[in-house]
Amino acid sequence: MKYSEFNQTTEEFQQISNLISSHLSEPYSIYVYWFFLNTWPQYCLTLRDEDTSELIGVIISKVEPHRDVRMRGYIGMLVIDPKHRGKGYASKLVEMTVQKMIKCDDVDEITLETEVINQGALKLYESLGFMRTKRLYRYYLNTHDAFRLILPVTEKSMKRIAFLTPIV
Ligand SMILES: CC(C)(COP(=O)(O)OP(=O)(O)OC[C@H]1O[C@@H](n2cnc3c(N)ncnc32)[C@H](O)[C@@H]1OP(=O)(O)O)[C@@H](O)C(=O)NCCC(=O)NCCS
Repeated sequence: MKYSEFNQTTEEFQQISNLISSHLSEPYSIYVYWFFLNTWPQYCLTLRDEDTSELIGVIISKVEPHRDVRMRGYIGMLVIDPKHRGKGYASKLVEMTVQKMIKCDDVDEITLETEVINQGALKLYESLGFMRTKRLYRYYLNTHDAFRLILPVTEKSMKRIAFLTPIV
């Protein structure tokens, strides 16, 4: 298995788009991931079978200042092809993303949302240290609630916004 950064070709974009639309419950518009991939290509990591080159998994994320006081990473989408689940691939993609956000962007925290009924995703993220902070009522188009999860990275993540000085 080979982990890589998005290679910024139309062909790979199409493969990513197919994987996401086939296996994520939320029907994302193609423009959502086009925006993520165009703006933060370095935060799209792919996993391919080395022998067949088949796309097995993808994680799409971004990093932005949050309320001008913290750097916040956000994991937008994560999918592993059903044939290859349960082998630790998703955990590896999340760990690589977390380390990259810390190294390249000095993030203070990393957040994401997942459906409250998505036990697999909750187990995966909580085993990596993410914690539930909020329940978002009817967050998804299918009317399911979401949990927002957070991984605090620095002390800043544990301080109230009012006590932090703006990032210049
Ligand atoms: C959720 C998903 C990404 C997990 O991928 P994966 O490669 O199978 O996950 P991993 O093998 O890395 O598993 C990591 C941990 O989560 C647990 N886990 C993963 N899927 C699980 C499931 N369906 N039920 C219970 N636990 C599960 C594993 O047991 C493992 O825990 P362990 O290390 O204690 O054994 C995959 O099922 C998927 O693509 N689902 C559809 C899309 C989705 O729900 N994405 C997340 C939305 S935010």
